[in-house]
Amino acid sequence: MVFPSVRMRRLRRTPALRAMTTKVRVHPSNLVYPIFVDENAKAPVPIKSMPGCSRLPLEHLTEEVRKTLEQGVKAILLFGIPSKRDETGSGAFTGDGIVQRAIRKLKDEFDDEVVVMTDVCLCGYTTHGHCGIVKDKEIMNDPTLEFLQRIAVSHAEAGADLVAPSSMMDGQVKSIREALDDSGFSQVGIMAYSAKYASCFYGPFREAADSAPSFGDRKSYQMGYRNPHEALREMELDANEGADILMVKPALPYLDIISLAKSSFSLPVAAYNVSGEYAMVKAASQMGWIDEKAAVLEMLTGIKRAGADIIITYFAKDVESWLNQL
Ligand code: PBG
Repeated sequence: MVFPSVRMRRLRRTPALRAMTTKVRVHPSNLVYPIFVDENAKAPVPIKSMPGCSRLPLEHLTEEVRKTLEQGVKAILLFGIPSKRDETGSGAFTGDGIVQRAIRKLKDEFDDEVVVMTDVCLCGYTTHGHCGIVKDKEIMNDPTLEFLQRIAVSHAEAGADLVAPSSMMDGQVKSIREALDDSGFSQVGIMAYSAKYASCFYGPFREAADSAPSFGDRKSYQMGYRNPHEALREMELDANEGADILMVKPALPYLDIISLAKSSFSLPVAAYNVSGEYAMVKAASQMGWIDEKAAVLEMLTGIKRAGADIIITYFAKDVESWLNQL
């Protein structure tokens, strides 16, 4: 035995010692809960591939958010399912759209007790299901920006705290920042889906929002997962264009990108633990193949350890009670 003797197990000996030396902790106040509001629904519509999640009618939203707040989660991310779709996604920016009504309702009820964030994109509102304006099967970048500006401003008018552009159009953060500032909403922040990958893990979400593209795929605007440096450029651009929070999405297959984001920028980093990541854990635990609570806490801690300050997750509401059980 060399002296001094090194024994890593000394500090692992008792639960109290382990608690004292714990560095990374998941806390509900750093979590964001995504919610689907459905203009067509009369009652909650369960999402088959996301057990435990439903598309909610507006009337059920307050109750859902109350439950979320009770679990220590203070932020939600709203997605809308409109009753009508068209070529340009106009349902996304009408003043009385489903998301705009949802924001108003929540701000009336909870005021600043809840952080209301909104997805700014076209895919859920267009007949073709793409995240931008389509011309001859091409997704047009610059014509889309004007629509994203309208959506963001309409969300700000309704009272959103932060808007989250997710269409991966070049220049979307700059355009939205300018539009918000010009309309008197300089206090409204931008959480940019900066490093958003073209991922198979969005599958269950597309079932939930009925937003799968009707032709082609999203590879001409979302990133390819073989190029880590592209993420750095995307994040650099968004930081310079005025993003308040940088997001990496999905989370688990991209822990290196989360770590890169944290070490390269001084902005808060959010990670989106997406629908497919949720579905995998749910499916395995329903089969009795994995312990759901332990798996979720281990995964979320891993995402935080990689560098995420904020985690967007469909498990958000469960974490507080699970932490108390372990
Ligand atoms: C909209 C959007 C998507 C997700 C968030 N915003 C779908 C997509 O890009 O196809 C996916 C979220 C999830 O899978 O949980 N563009």
